[in-house]
Amino acid sequence: MIEGQVVAITGASSGIGKATALELARCGAKLVLGARHQEALAQVAEQIRLAGGDVVSRATDVSKREDLISLVRLAQENFGRLDVLFSNAGAMPIGPFDELAVEDWETMVDVNIKGVLYGIAAALPVFREQGSGHFIHTASTAARKTVPNQVVYAATKAAVLALSDGLRQELAGQIRVSAILPGFTDTAFSEHVKSPELKAQMQKAGEKFAMSPEAVAKAIVYILQQPEEVNIAEVTLRSKAQA
Ligand SMILES: NC(=O)c1ccc[n+]([C@@H]2O[C@H](COP(=O)([O-])OP(=O)(O)OC[C@H]3O[C@@H](n4cnc5c(N)ncnc54)[C@H](OP(=O)(O)O)[C@@H]3O)[C@@H](O)[C@H]2O)c1
Repeated sequence: MIEGQVVAITGASSGIGKATALELARCGAKLVLGARHQEALAQVAEQIRLAGGDVVSRATDVSKREDLISLVRLAQENFGRLDVLFSNAGAMPIGPFDELAVEDWETMVDVNIKGVLYGIAAALPVFREQGSGHFIHTASTAARKTVPNQVVYAATKAAVLALSDGLRQELAGQIRVSAILPGFTDTAFSEHVKSPELKAQMQKAGEKFAMSPEAVAKAIVYILQQPEEVNIAEVTLRSKAQA
């Protein structure tokens, strides 16, 4: 039952996070949206509000621990609780090792891994006190299949999968933990690839293989629609063309 649930989403300003926010609002969830770009975030919130939904948003950089604490607090202040934290924000400045783009490696570690950990640190005490809660983490099919030029990204997503798996076991009985592993999805993701050749390659692959972010949002709805005693550990989905 999604109606009335308080769901916080990071990376809600575009792509999968935005599509999920809109879909969950349609299902009657109360949304708490975070991302760095306030204007884009405000537009998503406004779209939800105009359709009669309940939503609050706050500029959030998931690589800053205090921003996640603040996002969780926003949920509590406005809705009195937090039922779901969807840690979805991600960075993908991919490239070959030879480029030695160490700052990009650090960004991927900071956003993709630390961002998820800071979400856990912020929401776990709240979930424990409530006696319930649900962490959903966006991993990727890259967590299971590493390809050249995406190795650091794949490593961060493998880390997300490992920590989701262990967290689920530690929290069993009270708090649910799910990981979602999307394949190629039609979002702004490849825009952040610096090498023009690699970007063109990604965009070409996207045209051939990408599914819509709305398809991923529907998988999140599936995870959240399960009976109270059921925990969906992982959902892997790709477009029919990529599968
Ligand atoms: N697209 C794919 O093919 C694909 C496949 C598998 C998994 N994924 C995963 O899906 C997730 C969402 O990506 P997307 O495909 O929807 O791409 P996207 O449209 O580029 O969205 C990425 C989101 O992450 C946010 N973000 C980036 N850095 C952030 C930070 N430091 N703090 C807070 N938010 C930050 C961005 O918002 P701001 O810039 O406003 O902060 C944006 O809302 C990522 O975790 C990605 O790894 C994507």
